[in-house]
Amino acid sequence: MLTQLVYTSRPRFDVSTPDGRLTLEEIASAARIFNSSKGITGVLLAGNNWLSQVLEGDSKELTPLLARILADRRHDCLVIVEMRRVTERRFGQWTMGIRTLPMAEIPIDRLGDITAEEISALTRIATD
Ligand SMILES: Cc1cc2nc3c(=O)[nH]c(=O)nc-3n(C[C@H](O)[C@H](O)[C@H](O)COP(=O)(O)O)c2cc1C
Repeated sequence: MLTQLVYTSRPRFDVSTPDGRLTLEEIASAARIFNSSKGITGVLLAGNNWLSQVLEGDSKELTPLLARILADRRHDCLVIVEMRRVTERRFGQWTMGIRTLPMAEIPIDRLGDITAEEISALTRIATD
């Protein structure tokens, strides 16, 4: 069943530094190899103090991946914003794109309240 999963989390590294940028690149390059082998597509958005990832694929593949991402100590405070069945992919060409939105600050205490629409709007800004 084609499923889209959206979550937010708090990076435990500083996305605005060269080291942080490297960490993001490492995450994305490992993700690309794995995701392409499992038919998973999506995008990873990074602001100064927040991450959000959209993952699309078969729910049988997404659930175990989510468990690994949840356990990853490079971020914490993971909140699932949305997980729903979809009829088509939005990021069909992307095994895992990274987009940074350094200006878009999300207060940490709001990370859990952010809506799927807000993430979707940020995704549009970042990918257009
Ligand atoms: C923000 C974030 C997003 C990630 N996205 C993916 C992803 O899309 N695909 C993937 O295979 N790993 C992703 N990872 C890496 C996984 O958390 C994990 O490190 C990787 O799957 C290896 O797992 P293992 O060490 O248990 O084998 C992500 C990690 C972070 C911190």
